[in-house]
Amino acid sequence: MTPPGAAAAPHPPPPTSLVGPPVPPHTGGPPRTPGLFVTGTDTGAGKTVVAAALCAALRAAGRRVAAVKPVLTGLDDAGASPWPLDHELLAAAAGGRADEVAPLRFGPAVSPHLAAELAGAPIDPATLVRAVAAATAGADVAVVEGVGGLLVPIAPDYAVRDLAADLGLPLVVASRPGLGTINHTLLTVEAARAAGLDVRAIVLGPWPEEPSVVERSNRATIERATGVEVATLERVAAPEPALLAAAGAHLPVARWVAAA
Ligand SMILES: Nc1ncnc2c1ncn2[C@@H]1O[C@H](COP(=O)(O)OP(=O)(O)OP(=O)(O)O)[C@@H](O)[C@H]1O
Ligand SMILES: [Mg+2]
Repeated sequence: MTPPGAAAAPHPPPPTSLVGPPVPPHTGGPPRTPGLFVTGTDTGAGKTVVAAALCAALRAAGRRVAAVKPVLTGLDDAGASPWPLDHELLAAAAGGRADEVAPLRFGPAVSPHLAAELAGAPIDPATLVRAVAAATAGADVAVVEGVGGLLVPIAPDYAVRDLAADLGLPLVVASRPGLGTINHTLLTVEAARAAGLDVRAIVLGPWPEEPSVVERSNRATIERATGVEVATLERVAAPEPALLAAAGAHLPVARWVAAA
């Protein structure tokens, strides 16, 4: 507390633009590979499984898919889960090399801005956008997985939703099916729309074989509140491309990519 008569400490600087005014959507520039940007309501919300299922299904249908995880953190956690790291699963699903899927990789499982800071290698947004565009050039469809949720910082004044806007890709939101998902999903859709982003679909997963009344109600409530199509992704038994393709085949990915 400031003692009486003493000068008050200066206020901390105002928050960064991460939660500030809407970011203008991507305009102009060269035509880019059509595709989808898979974001999530949170870390661990199912982005990689959804993205990998989309990639595997597209590939099984004969499409050339470029999967990209623009920034990967948590390399140090390799082997901690029966599921591989994001770039490895995406590479297996899309058919490619893991190091090409993730141009920027960091060891600690922390936010990208902090991982880059700890590595002494801050991320330059323009360079990152160019790297993603280059990685998807020549493919029929790009599937880009975000990091954490939309407001996660990649650099001090550049969040995941800014990257989605700069890439000019519509969003697919991966969300959990159970208690808490209405709030997290609606917040995500609101944050997306504030930035002018087009939310093409929401995917709830892993979706149980026999959904409870809560899960069925969550799906209907989110669809009604957002006006966005809410699809579901079944539980994929193992991280294998054939199983991912079978699960992803139920998602209308071609329609999501093509929608105006
Ligand atoms: N449809 C599903 N079928 C089976 N397991 C799933 C499914 N969705 C999520 N999981 C489980 O939840 C874990 C977290 O999902 P996932 O890795 O896709 O989340 P994420 O949003 O990509 O996380 P991160 O923020 O770390 O990138 C998976 O490793 C898997 O174990
Ligand atoms: Mg992931």
